[in-house]
Amino acid sequence: MKNILVTGGAGFIGSNFVRYLLRQHPDYHVVVFDKLTYAGNVKNLLDVHDDPRYTFVRGDIADKHMLADTLRAHQVDTIVNFAAESHVDRSILEPDAFIHTDVVGTYVLLEAARQFGLERVLQVSTDEVYGSIPVGFFKEGDPLEPNSPYSASKAGGELMVRAYHETYGLNTVVTRGSNTFGPYQYPEKVAPLFITNAIEGEPLPLYGDGMQVRDWLYVEDHCAGIDTALHRGAPGEIYNLGGGNERHNIQVTKLILQLLGKPETLIRPVADRPGHDRRYALDCAKLKALGWAPTKDFETRLAETVAWYQQNDWWWRPIKSGEFKAYYRQQYGERLAAG
Ligand code: NAD
Ligand code: TYD
Repeated sequence: MKNILVTGGAGFIGSNFVRYLLRQHPDYHVVVFDKLTYAGNVKNLLDVHDDPRYTFVRGDIADKHMLADTLRAHQVDTIVNFAAESHVDRSILEPDAFIHTDVVGTYVLLEAARQFGLERVLQVSTDEVYGSIPVGFFKEGDPLEPNSPYSASKAGGELMVRAYHETYGLNTVVTRGSNTFGPYQYPEKVAPLFITNAIEGEPLPLYGDGMQVRDWLYVEDHCAGIDTALHRGAPGEIYNLGGGNERHNIQVTKLILQLLGKPETLIRPVADRPGHDRRYALDCAKLKALGWAPTKDFETRLAETVAWYQQNDWWWRPIKSGEFKAYYRQQYGERLAAG
């Protein structure tokens, strides 16, 4: 591997992964290929902008000509596909873009990889493809029972990855990551939304009873897990990638408020998300056997993350005053008024 195409590299995890790759592999050339949707942000990559090993290309993974031109121009040998519509609530409001990017886009990308004979394609997937698990832990061979348009579109893309491996022998690897948090996360997701709302003294809209469980994974640990699967994963294999930090949403909410010295009266219970998965939990023994493990504990990482948002309001304040405002009104307006 020398020339790696990181699709969706201007998003949250993708931009952290670009930094991680350049740090870990001094001989790699990294090409970011990103459509720059509302969630893509070139500011996420400001600190690598002048690195001669980094190139940025604006493009849609569903555009086969643009993709082919980029693979050819940069002699790409490996793709790591982060490009996706990634927010469950938006998929409930408007699923269209999810089918375009997460399903069709993934297919177009696989077809390009096959035609160019690439060495490896890593598909960044999610634990949400399994659906909800009341007790125990999902293993890689468990059935896929996605419940939201987001998770169904991610499952659709992932199944095309499987088909391209089985049918055409494409060298693929899939990672199924759990809920991720850290710097540069678009403030629609619960952690940065609640941190930045709390900083602004705004209410924190907690869905339903707040007793849903997510397994929290720090973004750098997610990047390290992808890097491990990319370099040591076996062809055609799938790897669960979770932090092992199961927490109820209400616990995480209270911890954020505590870290910021804000009152719990900011918590506003609101109408639940339709089809809301109750619990996600992963068995990650397969990836751990390749040498991966999360680094610090959840509470330390959450404190670091809260501090990052406190110190970097130059990054999130412009986002929250732009397109985000219309989305926030649509998603939360009636809920907050009723709550
Ligand atoms: P994000 O929404 O922050 O970033 C997505 C990026 O993809 C953006 O830069 C956007 O511009 C780009 N993009 C969207 N459509 C595109 C297209 N058609 N062509 C090219 N680029 C396009 O998402 P994220 O949270 O960083 O998630 C990245 C990946 O990781 C996604 O595939 C997501 O499903 C997966 N994942 C996320 C989490 C999480 O907790 N955030 C957990 C597990 C897996
Ligand atoms: P989210 O960050 O949207 O990730 P996902 O839906 O992919 O797990 O949400 C994480 C959890 O937080 C989920 O159980 C839904 C809940 N949540 C709220 O209670 N309020 C909110 O405003 C948001 C965005 C999420």
